[in-house]
Amino acid sequence: MNRKTEDQNRAAHTRRDFLKTSTVAAVGTTVAAHMNIIPGAYAQGSDEIRVGVIGVGGRGTGAIKDVLMAAPGVRIVAIGDVFKDRIDEAMAKFKSFAEDPEIKKLGNTVAVTPERSFVGFDAYEKVINASDVNYIILATPPGFRPQHIKAVVASGKTLFTEKPVAVDGPGIRMVLEAYEQSKTKGMSIAAGTQRRHDVGYNEAIKRIQGGAIGDIVATRAYWNQGGLWKKDRQKEWSDLEWQLRNWLYFTWLSGDHIVEQHVHNVDVSNWAMNAHPAKATGMGGRQVRTSPEYGHIFDHFAIDYEYPNGVHMMSMCRQIEGTTGNVSEALVGTKGNYVSQSNRQLITGANEWRYNDKPKSAYVLEHTDLISSVRAGKPINELKNVAETTLTAIMGRMSAYTGKTVTWEQALNSQEVLMPAKLDWSSNMPVPAVAVPGKTELV
Ligand SMILES: NC(=O)c1ccc[n+]([C@@H]2O[C@H](COP(=O)([O-])OP(=O)(O)OC[C@H]3O[C@@H](n4cnc5c(N)ncnc54)[C@H](O)[C@@H]3O)[C@@H](O)[C@H]2O)c1
Repeated sequence: MNRKTEDQNRAAHTRRDFLKTSTVAAVGTTVAAHMNIIPGAYAQGSDEIRVGVIGVGGRGTGAIKDVLMAAPGVRIVAIGDVFKDRIDEAMAKFKSFAEDPEIKKLGNTVAVTPERSFVGFDAYEKVINASDVNYIILATPPGFRPQHIKAVVASGKTLFTEKPVAVDGPGIRMVLEAYEQSKTKGMSIAAGTQRRHDVGYNEAIKRIQGGAIGDIVATRAYWNQGGLWKKDRQKEWSDLEWQLRNWLYFTWLSGDHIVEQHVHNVDVSNWAMNAHPAKATGMGGRQVRTSPEYGHIFDHFAIDYEYPNGVHMMSMCRQIEGTTGNVSEALVGTKGNYVSQSNRQLITGANEWRYNDKPKSAYVLEHTDLISSVRAGKPINELKNVAETTLTAIMGRMSAYTGKTVTWEQALNSQEVLMPAKLDWSSNMPVPAVAVPGKTELV
């Protein structure tokens, strides 16, 4: 299953509730973007969105197109990536973006020159500090995210951060500290947990929090699918380059697939519960993807999470070819049940409701919402939510790796820094050992 397609299929086309409270100008802007009308309906000049993107791989270039389709008055002005060939690939796509009829209608443009495309580990600083950039998109592998988020918050610029926002407890602490600073600065921040910008999900959660299924007594979150991409090692690649190009398979870069991918489903449970779990007891392993090309991550996890009020979430995720796919979230209530799967929302029981509307991408809506918040002067800030859901997934991974029950405090206060102390293009970088429950220590 292609996860981008799956997620895009889940999106829907009307607008989020909070926009109803925005100013008339902001609503006009958003309606324009969503309904493809009045592309010039924003205050020209001072509120132009000038985007800098860090990490221009699959999602980074996807996000460039999404933000160009999100509202009028958007210009892409700088990009950065650790690899020059990724910059070249991104530049090659820009022509087709410029020719997209919807983007043309909005009057949006890509104005990235070779001088405004930065290569290397310090590319993020060059993009963030570019004087014309006022809107940053972070789309590198998540291991770098805490450092990049910290730098964006220091700059005070508007931030769109892909999920997850860290891979370990120390990273989450850095992000939560940045969140506190961003609140003081009144920054607008949105995260790539796009279900929170999807109209169907928003309507479902509003109904559930309004009592449609009664009290929630159990939740379920699944992301079971086949495998994802990998890149064959080239002889000229150092250990570091091989790991970076295959970042999914290294926990210091991805957090493992429970953190990198399953975070989406766990987020829906946390959102509905308006809480995060207090502890996790989980298991998992590496049964099929056992060869060295798959680094050291697991290929399946099953976690029993417990919320502070005693409600349990059954979470499972698997990336194994030939197995039954299931990407869904479900809630069990005292008056009914809820399930969301394949772009369908369904509440059964006393207050039956279903939503099968034709989707407009939530990948676009997340930018529409963020831009509207900036233009209305009503900041939204999703950094705490996404940090807490990321830590939920990290807590599950820690439990599965060690075979121990792990509490929220243990995960949050963990001293385990997964990022190697030095990133060196030439020296050896051994692959960490595959975790063994009962032997791998909880740090
Ligand atoms: N919201 C979603 O549904 C969704 C979907 C796909 C991916 N993602 C997230 O987007 C992020 C990127 O995933 P992707 O699929 O685009 O991966 P990708 O490998 O296609 O792209 C990552 C890019 O980041 C670059 N990069 C790596 N380290 C860097 C650094 N230190 N500084 C600058 N650039 C660096 C890589 O060279 C690459 O071009 C991940 O966090 C992933 O979880 C989210």
